Amino acid sequence: MTSVYLNGDFLPMSEARISPMDRGFLFGDGIYEVIPSYSGRLVGFGPHMQRMRDGLAELEIRTNMDEAAWRDIVETLVQQNGSGNLGVYLHVSRGADSKRHHAYPTSVDATCFGFTFEIPPPPVADKQRVTPYRVSTAEDLRWKRCHIKSTALLGNVMHYQQGHAAGAQETILYNSDGEVTEAAACNVFVVRGGVVATPPLDHQKLPGITRLMLLDILRRHSDIPVEERVVTVSELLQADEVWITSSSKEIAPVTMIDGKPVGAGEVGDVWAAAQGLFAAHRYDY
Ligand SMILES: Cc1ncc(COP(=O)(O)O)c(C=O)c1O
Repeated sequence: MTSVYLNGDFLPMSEARISPMDRGFLFGDGIYEVIPSYSGRLVGFGPHMQRMRDGLAELEIRTNMDEAAWRDIVETLVQQNGSGNLGVYLHVSRGADSKRHHAYPTSVDATCFGFTFEIPPPPVADKQRVTPYRVSTAEDLRWKRCHIKSTALLGNVMHYQQGHAAGAQETILYNSDGEVTEAAACNVFVVRGGVVATPPLDHQKLPGITRLMLLDILRRHSDIPVEERVVTVSELLQADEVWITSSSKEIAPVTMIDGKPVGAGEVGDVWAAAQGLFAAHRYDY
């Protein structure tokens, strides 16, 4: 039986209830995090908490929870749900008001929710065993605050569905200037001539924790050159390797974009080196 956390209690998922007046439900007014846990070991807990604090501050949502309180909740959820390979989902909405009014209410308590779901085992850097991704591309039609990990994900959901309907497993997005932003639920990396590049952080993309850790790991523990700079769609289509990153996938190689092969159409050597380094250092954060 799945055990969830809701506003101070741990209880079976089937018993968890929130008000239909919750602003998370009515407006998508909240933020969330997904933290991987492998056999009880958390990946990137500190950076995930920092991003959560940043999102709450930007939305002016106040809770009485500090990092230690969240750690207790996460560890209890992991332990109560079998301690296998789990994604821990944490969600804070502004809470339930008595009326539906756009302005932030002043005296409602935030709704804090957490649950776990199964994720695949930690990825290994094995070119023979990894299943590469086929993706499609689309113009990014989301809002201009994509740096906030908002629960209002309809723009992302519609782009993901666009790729899904075309037989792809993700959709890589570009802005009206032909610059890659990110994917529907991942950040994007390209490799050309042994140099790794990813678009710089701004309001057009989520500051992914896997992106942050991967850049830091490559800079600290390898000689692989890394650049944060504008990446155009034509560079994406001419890259030797393309990767998409997220907490549950780590670094996923992409071998097909819009039905055309990436580079030689095979998983690359730089991917294997990067995923190997990530695996060696995933618990350092
Ligand atoms: C839009 C978007 N970009 C990037 C990411 C990757 O972020 P992280 O590495 O923190 O999982 C996600 C993850 O959910 C996402 O939804």
